Amino acid sequence: MPRFPAAFRWGAGTSSYQVEGGVHEGGRGESVWDRFAHTEGTILDASTGDEACDSYHRYAEDVRLLAELGVDVYRFSVAWPRIQPEGTGPAVKAGLDYYDRLLDGLAERGIAAVPTLYHWDLPQALEDQGGWLSRETAYRFAEYAAIMADFFAGRVETVHTLNEPFIHLALGYALGTHAPGRTLGFEALPGAHHQLLGHGLAAAELRARGLRVGLAHNYTPVRAASSAPADIAAAHAYDVLHNRVLTDPLLLGRYADLSFFGLDDAPEYVHPEDLGIIAAGRPDELGVNYYNPTTAAGLDPLASSNSPLSFGLPFELRGVEGAEVTAFGWPIVPDGLREILVTLKDRYGDALPPILVTENGCSTVDAPDPDGVVHDEARIAFLDGHIRALHEAVEAGVDVAGYVVWTLLDNFEWDQGYQQRFGIVRVDFDTFARTPKDSFHWLRALIAEHRTGSAD
Ligand code: FCB
Repeated sequence: MPRFPAAFRWGAGTSSYQVEGGVHEGGRGESVWDRFAHTEGTILDASTGDEACDSYHRYAEDVRLLAELGVDVYRFSVAWPRIQPEGTGPAVKAGLDYYDRLLDGLAERGIAAVPTLYHWDLPQALEDQGGWLSRETAYRFAEYAAIMADFFAGRVETVHTLNEPFIHLALGYALGTHAPGRTLGFEALPGAHHQLLGHGLAAAELRARGLRVGLAHNYTPVRAASSAPADIAAAHAYDVLHNRVLTDPLLLGRYADLSFFGLDDAPEYVHPEDLGIIAAGRPDELGVNYYNPTTAAGLDPLASSNSPLSFGLPFELRGVEGAEVTAFGWPIVPDGLREILVTLKDRYGDALPPILVTENGCSTVDAPDPDGVVHDEARIAFLDGHIRALHEAVEAGVDVAGYVVWTLLDNFEWDQGYQQRFGIVRVDFDTFARTPKDSFHWLRALIAEHRTGSAD
C-alpha cells in the first residue's frame, strides 16, 4: 500500500437507526424509520431497527472494537428523536446522556468523534407536519442543531449536519423505498431545498459555538451508455441531479440548471435570502460517500417499462457493463473514487473544502466458519482497491483529510433489513455478539503500518 500523508486520518462509521436499537429507552420519540419499518411490506425481511445492533447498551464494546482497530475517528449519528422526541422543545437529558457516555468512551481511547446530526431518522411528529417538504422543518433542525452545538462545543472539532440529503430525498420522498415512504417524484424537490436551508441555519449555530461544519454527500461518477447524443444528454442530466443539485448551492451559492427536466429555475419555495444562508454554511469539510458509478442511457421509446430507479426520470439508470458486483448488486469500480474526487476538484476549484471520505465499503455474502469467523476476502479486495484509488486522488492534488470505512458493524441496512452485511465486524442478530471479520484485521494492520511509517 502506498504512503498517505502523516496527518491522514482513518475511521469507521455507523448511524443511529442502523445500530442503536433501544428505541423505547430514555424517552426517545418515534422516528420516521420506526413508523416505516413497522409498516407491512416496506422492509425486505420484515425486520425493524427496534434492536438493531443494540449499541444503545453495547456502545462500550463498540468503542473497544474501534480502539482495537486503531482508528483516529468514529463517525456516528445522533438520533434526533432521542434529543427532541417531538422534534421541538427542550432536550431530553437521558438522550444527551447516551451520547455523553459515548463521547467519554471515545475520549478515553483517544478517538475523535465526528458526529452527524441527521442520518435520516426524522422525528415522526415533524413528518406529520410535512417533513422536509415543509420549510418549518429547516427551522426545527436549526433549533436541534443549537442544542447539539452546546453539547458538542469543546468536545469535538467537526460536526456534520446532514448525511446524503439527495439519497434521503430520492429514496424517501421521490421513490418511497425509504422512510417516510413518499412517492412524489420531482414534486419532492422542495425537500432538497429545505434540507440545505436547514444545513445553512444549523451551520451558523455550530460556528457560533466554535465548531467546524461538515456535510456528507453521496457522489457517483456518471457515464453515458454510449456516445449517442441521447445517452450523453442523459448522463449530463443525471450528473446534475445526483452530484450537483445539493452541492452547487453550498459551494457556489447558486442552483444548477435543471431545465433538462423542465423545472423552473426560480421556484417560489426558494426565498430570496435562502441562497445566502446556504452559501454561508459552506462546509469546512465536505464528506464524500462513494459506492459506485452510474451509467445513464436515453430512454428507448419502444420499451414498455424502465428500471424502478428510473422512476420519474426521463432516462434510464444502469450498472456498469463488465464490472463485478457486490452482494447488493452494486458495481465494483475502485477507480470511480479517484474519478469523483478529481471531478470535484476540477469542478469547484478553490471553492472545494478539504474532503473526508465519510463512507466507502461493500456488502458481502458472509459465510462464517465453524468458529463464526468470516473470511471476507471480497471486502478486503474492495477496500484495498478503493484505498489505492484514493491515494491516487491525493497524489493528483485532491485535499483529502481521511478515510472512514462503512461500516464498523453489520447493521440494519434500511429497506434491506439485515440482509446486506456491510460490517468489518460480524454481528449475530440473535445474541448481538460481535466478531471481527478478516477485513477488520486487514484494516487494523494497514492503519498500524501507516502509523509506524513502515508502509511502502
Ligand atoms: C449509504 C448510507 C448508509 C448505508 C450505506 C450502505 O447511502 O448513508 O447509511 O446504508 O449507504
